[in-house]
Amino acid sequence: MIRAFDHFSLPLLRWFDPEDAHRMAIQGLRLLPPMRLRPDDPKLAVRAFGLNFPNPIGMAAGFDKSAEAPDALLRLGFGFVEIGSVTPKPQAGNPRPRIFRLERDEAVINRMGFNNDGADVVLRRLAARAHHGGIVGVNVGANKDSPDRVADYVKLIEVFAPVASYFTVNISSPNTPGLRNLQQASILDDLLARVIDARERVRTKAGDSPVLLKIAPDLSLAQLDDVVHIARSRHVDGMIVSNTTVARPSTLREQARAVEQGGLSGRPLFRLSTRMVAETYVRAEAAFPIIGVGGIDSGGAALTKIRAGASLIQLYSALVYKGLRLVEDIKSDLSSTLLRTGRDSLSEIVGADAAAITAEDWPV
Ligand SMILES: Cc1cc2nc3c(=O)[nH]c(=O)nc-3n(C[C@H](O)[C@H](O)[C@H](O)COP(=O)(O)O)c2cc1C
Repeated sequence: MIRAFDHFSLPLLRWFDPEDAHRMAIQGLRLLPPMRLRPDDPKLAVRAFGLNFPNPIGMAAGFDKSAEAPDALLRLGFGFVEIGSVTPKPQAGNPRPRIFRLERDEAVINRMGFNNDGADVVLRRLAARAHHGGIVGVNVGANKDSPDRVADYVKLIEVFAPVASYFTVNISSPNTPGLRNLQQASILDDLLARVIDARERVRTKAGDSPVLLKIAPDLSLAQLDDVVHIARSRHVDGMIVSNTTVARPSTLREQARAVEQGGLSGRPLFRLSTRMVAETYVRAEAAFPIIGVGGIDSGGAALTKIRAGASLIQLYSALVYKGLRLVEDIKSDLSSTLLRTGRDSLSEIVGADAAAITAEDWPV
């Protein structure tokens, strides 16, 4: 059924403006009949942040910003879904056009600017589906016009704690001016202290909510030293590496499109984001697990990301080019690899290549 859906929808959707195509995809998912997928290979199960993931493949943030279709995505085979980024107040985002396909690069540039329905509406949607179960993380961001951005994160943690399987503190979107300054050491330390404090305050009422930090791939290694040090000292539960890049590799073929402002994702982000996973892994020294995201478009790419240090992975841009069957294809490749190498779980290979990757030339 997924293959049939991809077969008809992919060529069709690519005719449309990318944002219209995205809206149609969300509407299509909402209409998806309830169906039961094959259960996952038990060897693909991952335990991380105190949660049991049926498989390691997540839908990355930004696809379902306002939690319109998390259950359909779970039914399609994702092991977890991250909704958001959500901001306290609803926000229109930047003027259109604001998503661009770089077809020949299998890449995307976006400058959405945190368009979302706002905390009240998103909370209502998540509360209405809470009894369905499944792992649904909430990615939180700050309003563009907020006078106190740290307070926005704190408020969202308090509000969403009862319905969030985990939180992602997104301080790495390139499309809200100044947001990435929150990655600076002194500001980040204060932000995380207040976020973790908020999580503790609501713990008795709302239960445990792991807090993950999502970073940009454009940090220098000195900045990464600081970020990982602070994340460890504030007892963050994990990191997501990485968001989109503001860099434009010279190898991009769609040079005309590459001048669009915004964050680049997809295949050209793979090497840089994988390097950052490895660099984060060697600095974290197993203090917390990492979710690897950026340019994963095959079972081989997923495996490379895991061997670089990712316990879990997420996808977005490759779904535009490969369709939803990519999720099942990656799962089946990972299962075959485990079988072939006689391993019982992916945890045995997480980070196996991290040290070697950090010794390679810097990806350009
Ligand atoms: C159109 C679009 C919107 C995105 N919106 C968000 C967002 O709201 N919050 C966030 O943390 N990441 C967002 N991302 C980044 C993705 O979650 C992911 O980190 C990035 O695209 C790299 O993965 P990929 O190469 O598989 O797409 C967005 C990406 C795209 C393409």
